Amino acid sequence: SAQLNDLAVRAGLKYFGTALGEGTINSDSQYAAILSDKSMFGQLVPENGMKWDSTEPSRGQFNYNQGDISANTAKKNGQGLRCHALVWYSQLPSWVSQGSWNKQTLTSVMETHINNVMGHYKGQCYAWDVINETISDSGGWRDSVFLRTFGTDYFPLSFNLAKKADPNTKLYYNDYNLEYNAAKTDYAVDLVKIVQAAGAPIDGVGFQGHLIVGSTPSRANLATTLKRFTALGVEVAYTELDIRHASLPASSQASVTQGNDYANVVGSCVDVDGCIGVTVWGFTDKHSWIPGTFPGEGDAMIYDSNYNRKPAWTSISSVLAAA
Ligand code: G3I
Repeated sequence: SAQLNDLAVRAGLKYFGTALGEGTINSDSQYAAILSDKSMFGQLVPENGMKWDSTEPSRGQFNYNQGDISANTAKKNGQGLRCHALVWYSQLPSWVSQGSWNKQTLTSVMETHINNVMGHYKGQCYAWDVINETISDSGGWRDSVFLRTFGTDYFPLSFNLAKKADPNTKLYYNDYNLEYNAAKTDYAVDLVKIVQAAGAPIDGVGFQGHLIVGSTPSRANLATTLKRFTALGVEVAYTELDIRHASLPASSQASVTQGNDYANVVGSCVDVDGCIGVTVWGFTDKHSWIPGTFPGEGDAMIYDSNYNRKPAWTSISSVLAAA
């Protein structure tokens, strides 16, 4: 049967992609084989390797070993690349988060970081997550050294710096829980408007899609939410999709529900002009960030821990084939 990226492209999307776990690719040959199949995954995103703590752990000391794993793998396999993430409160080295900055000095730190990292990957990234997760879970701007120093002025500042560093990549805002069309979604709409009103460039909004089996919105509601953003003239994508079971082990009924939830997410992207692709945040239950963050939860992926396709895999393939 056809693989998911091929089906996604036939359905009118640009790609079906996956995150690449830097610690996994060289230690698990089955993982590497599936990840490297372009008909399955047309695009890669580094799970951790391009983040600030990885690329500039000390001031002015740049390191691309981890990020290059994704860039080189994508190049070798003819896959696209999403790049993640430039300005984020997390995985931010303490020399940044705990430095005592004013607007001028922190602008200089951001400019140096963005110029170096975007410069290193120039021409290779379809898109960059310029700002990641700057909205708190109930709405409101999330506290960070950036917010404390600039207020919301760092939104347009970050996008302007990114545009100067690489004018030919899509510049995204990326966050989770935008899917529920609640307060956090309203703030993301405001963020896009703030950036646009300042005359700064923003091309896309990434819906991370860290969802829960049985609590995933319907295909129609997801499409409605995506359209709030495309109406502002930006594209959208699902950038970190995984749908976890809240309790384990999952029953076979729960696995079917998980498949329906995946199909609703992917289907909503197919339904919306301007939703350009879907990226899963890993693909096998063998390797996932979820149990470390949500103990007792997981099995969120489209292959089980023995690399068998789950109902989720089949549901995605059906929804794409029907498009
Ligand atoms: O590499 C070190 C290793 O040297 C050390 O021994 C080990 C001990 O803790 O930690 C390793 O680093 C871990 C890293 O993943 C690589 O495995 C970090 O502790 C751990 O915090 C880090 O977690 C990542 C998390 O972001 C951090 O915020 C997850 O892998 C990654 O999947 C997750 O991804 C985020 C997206 O970037 C943004 N959206 C949410 C998503 C899920 O949380």
